[in-house]
Amino acid sequence: MALNLNCRYLDRFVSEEELAAIAPEVDHARSCLYENRETAAGNTHHGWLTLPRDYDKEEFARIKAAAAKIRSDSEALVVIGIGGSYLGARAAIEFVRSKNYNLLAKDDPKVFFVGNSISPTEIGEIMEVCRNLDFSVNVISKSGTTTEPAVAFRLFKKLLEEKYGKEQAAGRIYVTTDKVKGTLKALADSEGYAEFVVPDGVGGRYSVLTAVGLLPIAAAGVDIDALMAGAAASMEKYAEPDMWKNDCYRYAAIRNILYRKGKKIELMVSYEPDYTLMNEWLKQLFGESEGKDGKGLFPASVIYSTDLHSMGQYVQEGERHLFETVVTFREPKRDVLVEATAENADGLNFLAGRTLSYINRKAFEGTVLAHTDGDVPNVVIEADKMDAFTLGELFYFFEKACAVSGYILGVNPFNQPGVESYKKNMFALLGKPGYEELAGALRERL
Ligand code: PA5
Repeated sequence: MALNLNCRYLDRFVSEEELAAIAPEVDHARSCLYENRETAAGNTHHGWLTLPRDYDKEEFARIKAAAAKIRSDSEALVVIGIGGSYLGARAAIEFVRSKNYNLLAKDDPKVFFVGNSISPTEIGEIMEVCRNLDFSVNVISKSGTTTEPAVAFRLFKKLLEEKYGKEQAAGRIYVTTDKVKGTLKALADSEGYAEFVVPDGVGGRYSVLTAVGLLPIAAAGVDIDALMAGAAASMEKYAEPDMWKNDCYRYAAIRNILYRKGKKIELMVSYEPDYTLMNEWLKQLFGESEGKDGKGLFPASVIYSTDLHSMGQYVQEGERHLFETVVTFREPKRDVLVEATAENADGLNFLAGRTLSYINRKAFEGTVLAHTDGDVPNVVIEADKMDAFTLGELFYFFEKACAVSGYILGVNPFNQPGVESYKKNMFALLGKPGYEELAGALRERL
């Protein structure tokens, strides 16, 4: 089987008539990726659309070779990047392997993600750990100028050079950036680091299936052929132009219908903790793509049943401005049996002979009915299992749904002008040359 959009729990919330009414808008949004591309906003960033088929095969082979080298000479890989330059890779490693990957990794290098914050505690800790390990660095920045990864790279480059000397350290540095521009590109050229490209036309949050995601994912032992094959399967399946036969377009339609009815928050839900970072990837994808021009669903996330004990009360009875998108898996990665005990002291013998996956399923079923009774529409996306192929399917499904949703909403789903505001202020406050005037104005307000 494959991905399936289950609309059974939407009956009371989204009618066939409403879907029919929005269908022309969905078709127009779809056409922005195809026949009306020329005039579509953000059309220079449609490269992800055919990536599962048209990816650079030569670079793909170099990624595999680099991953094999890292796996053979490194106990750890430090992945330096922020936003779209780390979330996909981290999500993939936790989804396919485990959120406890670093604890479980025996024959695999540990993977640490830094440069996604400026926290001295976090960066300092990983530096301390790496001092005692053989490690390599993959620094990832499409622009090559983002402050957080640039600062972290300066620190880890120094650490590598102290440990191995400048020349050997250079052999442990892998740079993923633009093919021509940016400070990082210039540095990589001058130091002779191994270089990988973020292709033109693929924005940060749509870049997981390029070297941005693929190198760290492969270094962690995930099958990137299967990942690309899953994405290619989705690419073919969701090329179907008819919304009624295309789950991806119908999901985009449903999100917009609910948004227009006052459901301003989309709560991404999974019952698998290994999906936590996938939720973070989704939040960036939808948040940066749609949150602009005073519009956009606010993407939030929970892991159930964990968060039923923290957010469950709000979801059940708080303000009715949210809907849930639940991703379920038909097969668990592993299962655990609950056995009977003679004394039944905990009163749990009614569960004897049941597996945890069965109990987890019942938690989902109970919750979906309770939440819909509480006026929270539930969209359910059913997937096979938490493996590389299914993940490829999901990545592509959500990327395309996001692009189409954004076009239905009437925004450019491929820019992120709002992310610049804080950067300018931070540069000014840090005394970066060229920001003197802004610095003066800001200091008065602090
Ligand atoms: O989606 C995006 O483009 C952004 O979130 C970027 O991924 C993020 O800002 C990191 O940018 P860069 O890769 O240029 O360092």
